[in-house]
Amino acid sequence: MSHITVTISETIQHIQIQRADKMNAFTDEMYQSVATALKNSHKANDIKVNLISGVPGCFTAGNDIADFLTYAKKGAFGSGIIDFLTTLGTLDMPLILAIDGPAIGIGTTMTFHADLIYATPEATFATPFADLGLTPEAASSYLMPKTMGHARAYEMLALGEKYSAEDACRAGFVNKIIPADQLISHSLAIAKKLSKKPESSLLATKQLLKSEREYILTVMEKEVEIFSKQLQSEEAKTAFSSFLNKTK
Ligand code: COA
Repeated sequence: MSHITVTISETIQHIQIQRADKMNAFTDEMYQSVATALKNSHKANDIKVNLISGVPGCFTAGNDIADFLTYAKKGAFGSGIIDFLTTLGTLDMPLILAIDGPAIGIGTTMTFHADLIYATPEATFATPFADLGLTPEAASSYLMPKTMGHARAYEMLALGEKYSAEDACRAGFVNKIIPADQLISHSLAIAKKLSKKPESSLLATKQLLKSEREYILTVMEKEVEIFSKQLQSEEAKTAFSSFLNKTK
């Protein structure tokens, strides 16, 4: 069963993460499905804006930790996550995120690639990489300090501090806090507003604002190299096993 639902309506592609029983944790197949949908939006003339949301009460608990353990044993990532990261870092189309509940790991780091981010008062953001024996991904080692300054980025990336929606607004990676029952309708209304603007202006604006793409891809590659080593550390394997065992 696919855990990613894609709906296209009035030039807006709405990608929903739907794996509620596992807090929307991303498997490699899910990364691949989102990457494919985003890439397809480039080719399709009828899509002008992408929106990604989770389920009510949960955006995503980040990468599936059982998959992390598998990658650690194999010594390699799946191809889906790499495709997802590259797609995110090179996406021309506007991307809106609608976040309710936890947005952990990639749930937080993807915000730094999105164009507009709306969150409910119940949204929480965390990048507990160091707690898992891991290191930053998705170019967050560059984009987070650039957006929020070193001290706050370090607080999240190394100390693993959880940010509320208000903290995230203050830090500059959430645009606005929207009540949960209006999150999707608000995000769709903004997507519709954007979609009415001249497409060439939108594409060129994003290209100008995201002019450091080549560098972002280089940062991602470097991060993957370090992250892969960290994944295989005893500390990481112990952290994964302890999370998985505790939940049993
Ligand atoms: N990978 C795999 N499974 C996950 C998961 C993840 N990242 N996050 C949650 N789950 C699973 C749990 O194992 C549990 O499965 P089970 O019902 O089969 O035991 C189910 O989702 C519900 O999670 P649970 O922890 O019971 O929910 P909660 O409401 O108490 O806590 C979170 C929610 C998101 C705070 C907590 O699940 C969590 O911290 N998850 C891990 C986040 C993380 O470190 N991600 C990696 C970032 S790099």
